[in-house]
Amino acid sequence: MEDHLKWYNSIKGKDYFFVIDLDGEPIGTICLYNFNKNYGEYGRFIIDRKCRGLRYGRDAMSLLISYARTLGIETLYGELLANNTYAILFDISIGFRITGLLRRNKRLAVRMEYDLLAA
Ligand SMILES: CC(C)(COP(=O)(O)OP(=O)(O)OC[C@H]1O[C@@H](n2cnc3c(N)ncnc32)[C@H](O)[C@@H]1OP(=O)(O)O)[C@@H](O)C(=O)NCCC(=O)NCCS
Repeated sequence: MEDHLKWYNSIKGKDYFFVIDLDGEPIGTICLYNFNKNYGEYGRFIIDRKCRGLRYGRDAMSLLISYARTLGIETLYGELLANNTYAILFDISIGFRITGLLRRNKRLAVRMEYDLLAA
């Protein structure tokens, strides 16, 4: 718990960290961070297991996309482990494209990008 608080204090004020709320119950989180010129990264995106596949993730990502647009971000990106097929297919279903392969902590990751300037 102490470690979590320390980490949370280190990101406070820098990242947009949202709780996904269903009728007053927290069911997940999604975050916007690592701003770099016109880019913004999404991550820390998780939906409670019992709520997956019910389109709450899609709703949360749509809201994040709208919010990123209001901040003037042109490209939203995410890095997903290459074996996270579910999340990769999720991103593709939203409109993200695979734009690269990376190595992260000795593991293969996929970079996904969403063009916020496109309609
Ligand atoms: C990735 C995650 C956030 C998606 O949330 P979700 O609420 O389950 O997703 P949704 O129900 O909104 O699904 C949206 C779309 O994803 C795709 N999708 C969902 N489940 C799928 C599956 N089993 N196989 C293929 N595509 C699938 C579908 O296209 C779906 O659209 P549809 O309902 O119109 O068919 C959630 O699965 C999760 O918490 N995963 C574990 C954490 C993680 O991997 N996070 C991403 C890395 S940061």
